[in-house]
Amino acid sequence: MSLVHVDPIGIDLEVAAGQTVMAAARAAGYGWPTVCDASASCGTCVSIVKDGIDNCAEMPDDERETLARTLVPLDGQRRLACRLTVNGPVTLSKRGVHVTDGSSS
Ligand code: FES
Repeated sequence: MSLVHVDPIGIDLEVAAGQTVMAAARAAGYGWPTVCDASASCGTCVSIVKDGIDNCAEMPDDERETLARTLVPLDGQRRLACRLTVNGPVTLSKRGVHVTDGSSS
């Protein structure tokens, strides 16, 4: 279990091994901006890694392809929350993360 801090909302998410950040957020009652419902195709969930980049898992091919297609720099600091898994503490910046009532994203 790794801790992911998300600003500007200022929350800490517990992310299990192999679990994506977006899945962890949803499980904790938060919505993460998405259009494709976490299928790594819209790019809407892109987030900035502010700290802990070495704790981010390698980028899968579908994430890399979507970032490239949506003209996001492949610098390792921009990651799709619907594909990002972590193995240690990470701080992300993503506007639009919000509390849900548990029935929507
Ligand atoms: S939610 Fe669409 S790419 Fe991640």
